[in-house]
Amino acid sequence: MRATKTAVAGGLLGLGLVLAASGALGHGDVQPQPVKTDGLKPLGTEWLAENPYKGDAHAISIGASGFNQNCARCHGLEMISGGLAPDLRYLPQGKEGDEYFVERMKHGAVINGVTKMPVFDGLISQEGLWAIRSYIESKHEE
Ligand code: HEC
Repeated sequence: MRATKTAVAGGLLGLGLVLAASGALGHGDVQPQPVKTDGLKPLGTEWLAENPYKGDAHAISIGASGFNQNCARCHGLEMISGGLAPDLRYLPQGKEGDEYFVERMKHGAVINGVTKMPVFDGLISQEGLWAIRSYIESKHEE
């Protein structure tokens, strides 16, 4: 059972949550690169439900470098996936995509007990992650 790149359905999300709760989550081999978020409004530690920086040009440029340093090796440079991981240009826009994004940052991706994507929540600040989300949304395609 392999999720398709457009699988944003609750079923997939539920599976991820169950796996995370069962302790199957490893650490992965990630070496997170800090994302410098100078000039962005500070957000605190509590996760927001929606991207506070949506459409903000400064956030998008911070997010572009954050993405290229932390996500591109799987999701592709400039977000054009080479097929190892979903092409994020097709992630839904707006709140639906935001919520899905946050769940992924909190839980990563574990498939058959193997960590395919690490948890980024706690490794990169909320500001840095929403900046990356802003970049992703700026490249959205239908
Ligand atoms: C080690 C490889 C790897 C890295 C690094 C990685 N990802 Fe992923 N990511 C994956 C894989 C593989 C999946 C698909 C998992 C699945 O099929 O359920 C995925 C899924 C996702 C999804 C869900 C996409 C969808 O259509 O279902 C989002 C959102 C996402 N990643 C965002 C990110 C962001 C943002 C970063 C950087 C902060 C990142 N990923 C870093 C491998 C990675």
